Amino acid sequence: MTRETWATRIGFILAAVGSAVGLGNIWRFPWVAAENGGSAFLAVYLGIVLLVGVPGLLGEFVIGRRANRSPAGALRSLSGSNVWGAWGLFYVVTAIALISFYSVVGGWILRYFVESSLALAGTGPTYFANPGQYFGGVSAGLDAVGFHVLFLALTAIIVLAGVRRGIELGTKVMMPAVLVLLVGLAVWAGTQSGAADAYAFYLRFDAATVRENFFGVLGPAAGQALFTLSLGAGTMVTYASYVDEDRSLAFDGTTIALLNTAVGVLAGLVVFPLLFSLGISPGETGTGAGALFVGLAGAFSQLPGGVLIATAFFAVVTLAALSSSISMLEIPVAFLVDEYGVERRTAVAGVGSVVAVTGSVCALDPAIFGFVAGTLVDILLTAGLTGFLVFVGWVMGRDALDEFRSGAGGVATALSTPWLFAVGALLPVFLVFTLLTTFGMDARLGFWPTVATAAALAVVIFAGVRGEPEAA
Ligand code: PHE
Repeated sequence: MTRETWATRIGFILAAVGSAVGLGNIWRFPWVAAENGGSAFLAVYLGIVLLVGVPGLLGEFVIGRRANRSPAGALRSLSGSNVWGAWGLFYVVTAIALISFYSVVGGWILRYFVESSLALAGTGPTYFANPGQYFGGVSAGLDAVGFHVLFLALTAIIVLAGVRRGIELGTKVMMPAVLVLLVGLAVWAGTQSGAADAYAFYLRFDAATVRENFFGVLGPAAGQALFTLSLGAGTMVTYASYVDEDRSLAFDGTTIALLNTAVGVLAGLVVFPLLFSLGISPGETGTGAGALFVGLAGAFSQLPGGVLIATAFFAVVTLAALSSSISMLEIPVAFLVDEYGVERRTAVAGVGSVVAVTGSVCALDPAIFGFVAGTLVDILLTAGLTGFLVFVGWVMGRDALDEFRSGAGGVATALSTPWLFAVGALLPVFLVFTLLTTFGMDARLGFWPTVATAAALAVVIFAGVRGEPEAA
């Protein structure tokens, strides 16, 4: 059977944007930005997206397009080494961890969407009465399990339909809808009474916070950059493996990163005016999973036409979450299809059943949910991206340059050598450093010793990879 490919270039771009744009933009980004210095954080974050995110994204693209295989097969076939093949299994595990928690949040959102749209005809949805209590009641337990399974089933249906008729067609419909609805909501939110205060809060340029606590801001900014660009899980390797024409990966990657950032900023322009119009200060509702639900549900319940706005808003978030969850499910599915010749149908059913269970565990136990959604995912994505970049720099080397240049324009070609140096040397050190700060090492050792440790560890990794004998 011949392997599927994207039907169009825009199809690939939209699928990748669909993967990138998700809960990371709409729920996580506005909060992390507001907490870490507003637009000054935005500047640091943009810097990381540009200097780490885009080159990292291109690293994943280069592996995928070169190998035409999903991560495990790609790493093995390009290196000829079973050790790399085994490391590829890491991405299957990461994908399952990701979708296990993501599908639970997707389920909450789906429930709010269903509740809101059912209420369009009648009185307000049940969550209007007491948003905090309502969220507490449905966010964990059997209710959450039910909606998680429903969300997962929707995800599975799209993935089942395949690359062209499922993922490509689905994101071609979903992404424009997300953009149009979000712009509409932002314009509407701008007319609310709290808009001016909200913009002042969100877009304030609090350089002092960033200056005083630069390294504290760096961690959240880096974590957010990886998560939001879907890096380190193998999604972008998998999607690029379905690209069959030589067009500029650098151009596509930059477009994807720009669109993704624009949606993040736009989401903030929707969320904050709503909260401020009710005098809810974002700090009060607390951060974390509940903020979006409790804070916004409260705002919707007070505003004229709130049910309609709520329906539109939760529709956007549902679509954005779906177009991301399909990209997570596609990783293990593509692995089974590529490596074992399993039929897509069987692969989706198999992986779906596993995630139905692992996700239910997250839905039942908030402590496990918190761990998976937070620390575990941070570690897996950072380690995962480090693996890819070391591979690009130290195993592919020249081949990576060739692949990068094929289809690239003049500017990208000129930047290809610095790019290889960055992904092969600088970025791994940076990522190992972030990993060490996740384990709290900088607090214990101090900043420079942690940098030195990161550099030393990276060199050990490089040497280990170089020492790996090349088979066949
Ligand atoms: N980028 C997605 C979001 O922002 C999450 C994601 C991470 C998707 C990793 C795929 C892989 O919601």
